[in-house]
Amino acid sequence: MGNYGCSDGLLTFVLQNLLSISCFSVVCGHLCNLVKMDCCFMFRKTSQAIEGDAGEHRVKIFSYNELRKATHDFSGANKIGEGGFGSVFRGILRDGTPVAVKVLSATSRQGVREFLTELTAISDIKHENLVTLVGCCAEGSHRILVYNYLENNSISQTLLGTRCSGIQFDWKTRVKIAVGVARGITFLHEEIRPPIIHRDIKASNILLAKDLTPKISDFGLARLLPPNATHVSTRVAGTLGYLAPEYAIRGQVTKKSDIYSFGVLLLEIVSGRCNTNTRLPYEDQFLLERTWVCYEQERLDEIIDADLGDDLDVDEACRFLKIGLLCTQDALARRPNMSSVVKMLIGEKSLSAHKITRPAMITDFADLKVSSGGQTRVQETRSSTTRSYSTTEEEPFSSSEAPTQTSI
Ligand SMILES: Nc1ncnc2c1ncn2[C@@H]1O[C@H](COP(=O)(O)OP(=O)(O)OP(=O)(O)O)[C@@H](O)[C@H]1O
Ligand SMILES: *[C@@H]1O[C@H](CO)[C@@H](O)[C@H](O)[C@H]1NC(C)=O
Ligand SMILES: *[C@@H]1O[C@H](CO)[C@@H](O)[C@H](O)[C@H]1NC(C)=O
Ligand SMILES: *[C@@H]1O[C@H](CO)[C@@H](O)[C@H](O)[C@H]1NC(C)=O
Ligand SMILES: [Mg+2]
Repeated sequence: MGNYGCSDGLLTFVLQNLLSISCFSVVCGHLCNLVKMDCCFMFRKTSQAIEGDAGEHRVKIFSYNELRKATHDFSGANKIGEGGFGSVFRGILRDGTPVAVKVLSATSRQGVREFLTELTAISDIKHENLVTLVGCCAEGSHRILVYNYLENNSISQTLLGTRCSGIQFDWKTRVKIAVGVARGITFLHEEIRPPIIHRDIKASNILLAKDLTPKISDFGLARLLPPNATHVSTRVAGTLGYLAPEYAIRGQVTKKSDIYSFGVLLLEIVSGRCNTNTRLPYEDQFLLERTWVCYEQERLDEIIDADLGDDLDVDEACRFLKIGLLCTQDALARRPNMSSVVKMLIGEKSLSAHKITRPAMITDFADLKVSSGGQTRVQETRSSTTRSYSTTEEEPFSSSEAPTQTSI
């Protein structure tokens, strides 16, 4: 996918956004401006850090050879996953430390210095609920990240997966995961300067430590690749459900788009199911939609995972579901900020001040044909595993509709 003009059809825009889940590839429109702004901002801070004597060595630099040894030559047996950024391998460093080695696939045009600059910034960010970056390798064209290894995998493979992980996700554990993730995002949004918008909050980016403390991974990665390198997710359909419509359609990246994704994740944690399941009857396929319907009919408890046993607190679970609905509201102003979300989750703040209206749903893409004054028709074509959207030219959002809410 090369450059394209802003006058291209919505289809390109939507698809481009969907395919470039973390958005490095969006070359035009609002997002581009945001991304650029983001980068400049970041660079200013980090270049200072690098100029300082201490700053230069804060990221541990590994040689390619060392990482090759650690992962048995990046062997298939050591491969633990593959995402939009590349492959992840389990490795053991010389001193015995287990690590996750992420080999970035896009042949980065970013120079070594720029790469290290961005990495220094990320490696400075430490929090109980964030995965720790151990170091990196930038030898030749290799761009590799080394993270702390987290033994109990991501919640997409355990809680939402086949459930043969053997981990018991009782209610207490789910509360700990939900609150931990919320605290991690609060840290990224509100406690560091400049703030970081994650852009890819989803179950596969929530890893679990030995004691099941949740750790958010892949924060700050959007800055590591050149703005036009495509991050094509292998699981577009799965990722789609986490994207706030304004982000998917207009590329509008704000803290509120992260909060939307968190809302969807929260519903998944309580219900124990993925946000989208095309094997279910059509009206049940989308968790968010189903939750809203149940909320309206005052049957919210039906959404709660039936596998939850003795320690389930139904009132608390319903409160979590309501918070999920609040986070996914259509109007950005209706979505609470992350520190408020944490307070609501732990019961320090009541939800009563907030009116819950119908959340914004990606399935509403189909409604665009109404809202865009007939200029654009978005048709929904369903297949068994994924959805695709087609459109007849004309882009409905003029560039004057710049996002009013930016994160910086
Ligand atoms: N630090 C880590 N410790 C243990 N396992 C990890 C670690 N980082 C990643 N993994 C595993 O590797 C898998 C792939 O991760 P990766 O981030 O490449 O893909 P993803 O999260 O599915 O998609 P995306 O590229 O959008 O983040 C994860 O789902 C997880 O199981
Ligand atoms: C990305 O941009 C660079 C320079 O701006 C260009 O040389 C390169 O071909 C672009 N890559 C893609 C995939 O569009
Ligand atoms: C985490 O994983 C380890 C090793 O796979 C396993 O022994 C342990 O029981 C898991 N932790 C929990 C709390 O289930
Ligand atoms: C979050 O929202 C609450 C309630 O609207 C507000 O009081 C608080 O200042 C906000 N915090 C931040 C960091 O924006
Ligand atoms: Mg990931």
